[in-house]
Amino acid sequence: MRDLTSDTITEAVISTMRETKDPRVAEILESLVRHLHAFVRDVGLTEDEWARGVDFLTRTGQTCSPTRQEFILLSDVLGVTMLVDNLTNRRSGEATENSVLGPYFREDRPRQAASADISGGLPGTPLFFEGQVVDHEGAPVADAAVDVWHSDSDGHYDMEVPGLDEPAMRALFRTDDAGNFGFRSIRPSSYPIPGDGPVGELMSATGRSLMRPAHVHLLIEAPGFQRVTTMLFPSDDPYLDTDPVFGVRESLVERYDTYAAGTGPRGGATEAPYTLLRRTFVLEPHVTD
Ligand code: BEZ
Ligand code: FE
Repeated sequence: MRDLTSDTITEAVISTMRETKDPRVAEILESLVRHLHAFVRDVGLTEDEWARGVDFLTRTGQTCSPTRQEFILLSDVLGVTMLVDNLTNRRSGEATENSVLGPYFREDRPRQAASADISGGLPGTPLFFEGQVVDHEGAPVADAAVDVWHSDSDGHYDMEVPGLDEPAMRALFRTDDAGNFGFRSIRPSSYPIPGDGPVGELMSATGRSLMRPAHVHLLIEAPGFQRVTTMLFPSDDPYLDTDPVFGVRESLVERYDTYAAGTGPRGGATEAPYTLLRRTFVLEPHVTD
């Protein structure tokens, strides 16, 4: 293996990996080398550009910390996260579709009983959420675990709200025998993805908006069914068609209806107009090999 040229180096690199034991690892590495070399040839990558790329990826890694994952954010804005989801979680019929998980899910969320107010006392338009979890035949799924999390009316998650020490606007619920769950909170707002790192540079260099449309995240799990990682967007949000992480699906756009002050679902009284969001989630059975 000497005197390799731009015509021979790709096969030469691949041939060094002949002894790879795991066939899937072998397949992935061969394809990665082929695509990487093809990309370098395609754009005629210069040494300076190569060095900039190395610097970008180095800083992306350096920006990661226990509370920040810049590589996943890079995957999100390049559409890779949603592409992998599309390829691995094909849903049939009415089954609820996935979206990105995002960086704001927390393991230390409180378990809450039905009808709980999870707003943490933060100001905002009252939001009532009434959900039901059913299977593909419409039968209720009881005791499903339903995680919910969302931003406040300024677009901040609880860990970003100054002075807020307890989890808020997030909770883990269990569906009742009719598959229902419901809670009270405040209406979330649109917000920007983190823009102060290398991903922010990429977004600004390409003239892209950082703003995500408002949404309520849900993660639903029940034995025998595929996990649903999803979110619901208000149909009047101005950022639906420019989501920087490509997470919007038509089936996840919902009416966030507004009602005059009074009594909301489950007897919840409001002194201001409130938003009511209703949604049925359809779970897809596990794929059995
Ligand atoms: C989110 O919706 O929480 C989110 C998703 C991807 C990147 C940043 C934020
Ligand atoms: Fe979010």
